Amino acid sequence: MSQRTLVLLKPDTVRRGLVGEVLGRFEAKGLRIVAMDQRTIDGEQADQHYAEHVERDFYPPLRAFVTSGPLVALVLEGDEAVEVVRLLNGATDGRKAAPGTIRGDFSLSNRENLVHGSDSPESADREIKLWFPDLP
Ligand code: PPS
Repeated sequence: MSQRTLVLLKPDTVRRGLVGEVLGRFEAKGLRIVAMDQRTIDGEQADQHYAEHVERDFYPPLRAFVTSGPLVALVLEGDEAVEVVRLLNGATDGRKAAPGTIRGDFSLSNRENLVHGSDSPESADREIKLWFPDLP
């Protein structure tokens, strides 16, 4: 079933010049880009995006990281897009992510792990509305 999902290429991806590499993996898989925008977010937007994590111990450094520079926000569309993106991204901690996944190939961190993908269709709906409120 065709789905949409919200993907962030986090500030480490932009800083390291890996936007083309990471985007190419999603495109090569067959996912379609339906929205894309580079922006730098403030703490308030980070709090809205990560609403379920704001009370967690790891949140303050995560907040500082995602607001530290430009990121690229994307909406991708395709069959089972939510799960497909999470498989391509790999496990949260880049040190444990399988080789061949984005995090497994390029990250050694559970904070600077290059990408975010919505964790369910319900999260995707919420996150797409938050990042791209005008997307039809
Ligand atoms: S959980 O506990 O399963 O709900 O959380 P998880 O999916 O593993 O992680 C949620 C997001 O928090 C980031 N994260 C961290 N950031 C900074 N420091 C530490 N220690 C840390 N641990 C987890 C993780 O990268 C996830 O970010 P997103 O953007 O959702 O992938």
